[in-house]
Amino acid sequence: MGNITFTMIKPEAVEAGNIGAILQRIETAGFRVMAMKKIHLSPQRAGEFYAIHSERPFYSELVEYMSGGPIVAAILEKENAVTDFRKLIGATNPAEAEPGTIRAEFAENLSKNAIHGSDSDENAIIESDFHFTKEERY
Ligand code: RTP
Ligand code: MG
Repeated sequence: MGNITFTMIKPEAVEAGNIGAILQRIETAGFRVMAMKKIHLSPQRAGEFYAIHSERPFYSELVEYMSGGPIVAAILEKENAVTDFRKLIGATNPAEAEPGTIRAEFAENLSKNAIHGSDSDENAIIESDFHFTKEERY
């Protein structure tokens, strides 16, 4: 199992002032912040990031949402990072997320669900490389 995952605190959670509360949950769960920045993705960059979903009916809504305001992007380090982080954030739809998960607490709905987490070790590397250079990681 890999030891990094990639996350984004999504625009509505940043706008609501939940950056600190979410980061506290992440660090308390044992993840180390290896890289972090606040950025406003262009529609083109958001579309590229979620290109895997380009055929899905919600793609244009997703691109508009993720480029609609600044996000906080980060690379997180921990043993079994991808699996453990998906458990910490909970199901995509907050109505189905386990109590105590980040999405159960902070997500608004299926679309505006507060936070992203990589779904595989391979994608954790691809997504980290999409957002961060080697010199931005410590
Ligand atoms: P993420 O990639 O953001 O961590 O979310 P996920 O793996 O839990 O879910 P995924 O299937 O990859 O979907 C990516 C994001 O698209 C939005 N979405 N909207 N309206 C809809 O039916 C719908 N379905 C998905 C969510 O923002 C979801 O996190
Ligand atoms: Mg996903």
